[in-house]
Amino acid sequence: MRLEKVRLSGFRSLRDLTLELGDLTVITGPNNAGKSNLLAGLAFLGDVYARGLDAAMQTAGGYDRIAYRRGGEAVGSVGFDVDVTDPATDSARPTSTSSAMQKSPGDVRIRHLFNIDAEATETVSSYALGSNHLRISGTADSFPLATALHVDSSGVVTDFAELPTAREEAENAVSEILAEIFVKNWPTNLATLFRPEDADNKFYAISEPARNLASRMRGVVAGIRILRPVPHLCRQPAAPGPNVLLSQYGENLPAVADHLRRAAPATWLSVQEVMTTVVPGLLKIDIVPTEDRKLALRFEERGVGRPWTAGEVSDGTVQALALVLALFDDRIPLLGIEEPENALHPWILREILKVCTRQAGKQVVMTTHSPVLVDYVPAESVHLMWREGGQSKIGKMLELDTDVRKVWEGGGTNLFELYDSGGIPQATPGDAENQ
Ligand SMILES: Nc1ncnc2c1ncn2[C@@H]1O[C@H](COP(=O)(O)OP(=O)(O)OP(=O)(O)O)[C@@H](O)[C@H]1O
Ligand SMILES: [Mg+2]
Repeated sequence: MRLEKVRLSGFRSLRDLTLELGDLTVITGPNNAGKSNLLAGLAFLGDVYARGLDAAMQTAGGYDRIAYRRGGEAVGSVGFDVDVTDPATDSARPTSTSSAMQKSPGDVRIRHLFNIDAEATETVSSYALGSNHLRISGTADSFPLATALHVDSSGVVTDFAELPTAREEAENAVSEILAEIFVKNWPTNLATLFRPEDADNKFYAISEPARNLASRMRGVVAGIRILRPVPHLCRQPAAPGPNVLLSQYGENLPAVADHLRRAAPATWLSVQEVMTTVVPGLLKIDIVPTEDRKLALRFEERGVGRPWTAGEVSDGTVQALALVLALFDDRIPLLGIEEPENALHPWILREILKVCTRQAGKQVVMTTHSPVLVDYVPAESVHLMWREGGQSKIGKMLELDTDVRKVWEGGGTNLFELYDSGGIPQATPGDAENQ
């Protein structure tokens, strides 16, 4: 199952922005364009799915911090439209690069649309879940969903929200139940999502496949991780924990390395192998207990004697380890990385990008200012973000206008040169509306 699209509205500077995701999505653009806000939006969404709305809101700093603001006031509501396709049909997809838009027969999609509204009280930091819909759509041959969705004989995609008779009832039921799911616990409440007991209502008869779909969707969205490794935090000893996932700044790196070493030894070996390209004499990375029952990293290098402690190795080494570890960690279906180029030599960055392209099944989103990165990845995966009229916009670099693609396809220039030439107005700093 993969995330095809996320539409964010009213989230920080993202007044209304749709991100289309591939296996690799690279986002560049001037400072202040909203790249980090976009990753923060994905992190927030993942957190809502993983821990519930209230916990996610608390971590994000409250409604005031996440809602689009103009003139000092939070405006409107914060909305998400999350669009996921089902993996069971992935094999039926065409493999060409433009396949994301082509729906092959049998595709099943789930869209989850929800809004978080500010409550009309004296403090806007109080909020409530507003509209909340789950939409499942499929074609005639998308297994039992077809009957339930009343797909017509021509195989026209219908989603339940469009069903004239059941619409209101269905939306109410789903809104109600999803609201409960968010504040309580999604997986345990899934059993009630589509009521199997209403057997004579065709809409509800899809309980089993719909439950499975919704549960897998939850797995993908709740598994979103954003990484912006900070070398001095990556060096810290960390407390061990069960099934621990890498946190945003890499501050629990030794604990995650320890988990991987135990739970997935082959993966841990691959991580170390990639790290030998970063530290050529590297023999082994070890994890050792500290006096205060935490874990610390040790780097054994040929001909050096005592292994290096995490405090002794370079910024690039710990930063690269955090990136490689997260890329290899198959518990993370979608990884967002903020500016992976920080502290890395261009050659090492390219080695890490190679790892990226080898991780089948994992979606990676990166923000970057690096010419090396922009020129290394497939041009089709590069998106540009800019600011226009006080809000963030996004577009695929090659689709901004026909001239950009023409110049690029004509050869003789690489993508970053094109971006940096001054010929693309959106790529220059400032608000495009005022230029
Ligand atoms: N609640 C909000 N409403 C509207 N705009 C906001 C809100 N919060 C932040 N912003 C805007 O977003 C800007 C920061 O955007 P962001 O950090 O995403 O930029 P960026 O593209 O990552 O830039 P850089 O390349 O420097 O990292 C702020 O300067 C502010 O103008
Ligand atoms: Mg940023």
